[in-house]
Amino acid sequence: MTASQSLDAARERLRPYVEAATGFTGWGFSRYGNARFLGPRQPWNYDRRVRELFTSAKSVLDIGTGGGERLSRYVRDYRGRGVATEAWHINAPIAASRLKPLGVEVLYCDDEVLPLASGSFDLIINRHAALEPADIGRILGPGGMFLTEQISNAHWGELQAFFPRTTAGKGENYFSYLVGLRAVGLEITDAREYAVLAAYEDMGNFVYMLCVTPWTIPDFDPLGDDLEALLELERTLSTPDGVVLTQGHSLIEAKKPSL
Ligand SMILES: C[S@@+](CC[C@H](N)C(=O)[O-])C[C@H]1O[C@@H](n2cnc3c(N)ncnc32)[C@H](O)[C@@H]1O
Repeated sequence: MTASQSLDAARERLRPYVEAATGFTGWGFSRYGNARFLGPRQPWNYDRRVRELFTSAKSVLDIGTGGGERLSRYVRDYRGRGVATEAWHINAPIAASRLKPLGVEVLYCDDEVLPLASGSFDLIINRHAALEPADIGRILGPGGMFLTEQISNAHWGELQAFFPRTTAGKGENYFSYLVGLRAVGLEITDAREYAVLAAYEDMGNFVYMLCVTPWTIPDFDPLGDDLEALLELERTLSTPDGVVLTQGHSLIEAKKPSL
């Protein structure tokens, strides 16, 4: 097979995953892109902690709710005020149609510039969405709680060797969020980072993930200009377990002091 024929064959092998990603909406379970952890699981349970915090909250804000999949489960037995924000125009209407019938107001706005009154919530949650610490400090009422799980700097750091323009591994948000939250007077009650190697079944499954997180490689062109770099990544990171990369997460919980 000539070099150009093998490039064409790789393109056709990856095409179904790229096409499946064009229909991606919300942020729920997907047939593709799931990775198997090769080490211990996260040492915290975000879902369980959110449910605990909901029991004492009268008003809750979820920043970057995606399609509202998780929040819709948390609010099932919740009687307080619920508000969610979503910044991606595709997901905002999906979140609204899922959450409005459950009594949750949905705002289509940037994660970091929230059109919400000062001191108006006693719980703010944020899973894998952007955030502005000063705004968290402003919007929380006295005694209010903040919980966030973030994708950490370690996540997919391997991409840098193949895609120098990637945002993965750059812009440490864990420490800047900690500093920012403290600067606005919040007390950090929990702060942890965790990383593990995880295996995608094959290159197509990882390419699917790159396509549904389009901020990871700006102007990503998997079937065109970026195909050769993807194949180099596949040759380098393939193992008997699949295509193996680091997954990294962080958790921060903080409290605004009572008056
Ligand atoms: C990873 S999602 C997490 C959503 C939700 N908090 C959860 O935990 O299920 C974080 C944010 O990424 C953004 N997002 C997801 N897919 C996107 C896409 N294909 N293009 C642009 N933004 C996207 C959405 O704004 C979403 O709220």
